[in-house]
Amino acid sequence: MKVISFYNIKGGVGKTTFAVNIAYEAARAGQRTLLWDLDPQGSSSYILRTKPHIKGELSQVVSGKNSLGKSIKETQWPLLDIIPSDFDLRHLSSLLEEEKRQSSRLSKSMKAFGHEYDLVIVDCPPEASTVSENVVNFSDLIIVPVIPNPLSINTFETLLRFAGEVADKKTRLLAAFNLVDRRKQLHKQLLEKYLSKDPKFLKNYVPASSAIEQMTSNRAPLAAYSSRSSSTSAFSELTGEILTLVR
Ligand SMILES: Nc1ncnc2c1ncn2[C@@H]1O[C@H](COP(=O)(O)OP(=O)(O)OP(=O)(O)O)[C@@H](O)[C@H]1O
Ligand SMILES: [Mg+2]
Repeated sequence: MKVISFYNIKGGVGKTTFAVNIAYEAARAGQRTLLWDLDPQGSSSYILRTKPHIKGELSQVVSGKNSLGKSIKETQWPLLDIIPSDFDLRHLSSLLEEEKRQSSRLSKSMKAFGHEYDLVIVDCPPEASTVSENVVNFSDLIIVPVIPNPLSINTFETLLRFAGEVADKKTRLLAAFNLVDRRKQLHKQLLEKYLSKDPKFLKNYVPASSAIEQMTSNRAPLAAYSSRSSSTSAFSELTGEILTLVR
């Protein structure tokens, strides 16, 4: 089992969009994939048409008495399962803070269900919290979706330092550009500066597109309703690049 998390302290940058499409593409490529919606907003659960509900008490999940495995649901897409969100996840950081080894507690919860999957994809909430410290510790790879502008790149650098400070082990954080519009001078310049030149940036990126925007009204991964669009190819290539990194 490999764990890939989509994380950024910034909101609205594409964490959910990446998590859903990359989980879907990985499942299409034959990987048994579990998407864990760790955000109380429940956006991935909504897109994958799953009721946001974790069975039993969240406090018992944190203490190890309630396995999250009981909350796993199949989606309507082959090889793709989900642990849905729950609005109680808003309390997760404070519950973790009551435990010993609060920054690695969720690694233990994951061991109880993760072995049945090739890949666990985590959709994270936009925060730098005790939950985020756990994400740094249980992930094999963290992808940070970044919109091409200097403030977003600056935030990515802040997250690299955050991960370095809280990690028990060395976890790789890589940026992936999203919402790219090559007609914009700034986007062109930043792509030129970072792609293929800075190894902390993935080579594939995702364009801004109306097909992607429609995911939230179609409530389906992009390739399920727009199999031939250039955005679908972008996600498919990005998934290939990411899977190679955790192989
Ligand atoms: N490449 C793209 N092209 C067009 N729309 C996009 C693209 N990426 C994301 N969006 C849209 O932008 C909005 C925010 O995306 P998303 O929900 O994936 O961000 P997020 O980082 O998960 O947000 P949050 O921090 O609230 O969880 C959504 O409406 C989504 O459909
Ligand atoms: Mg989200």
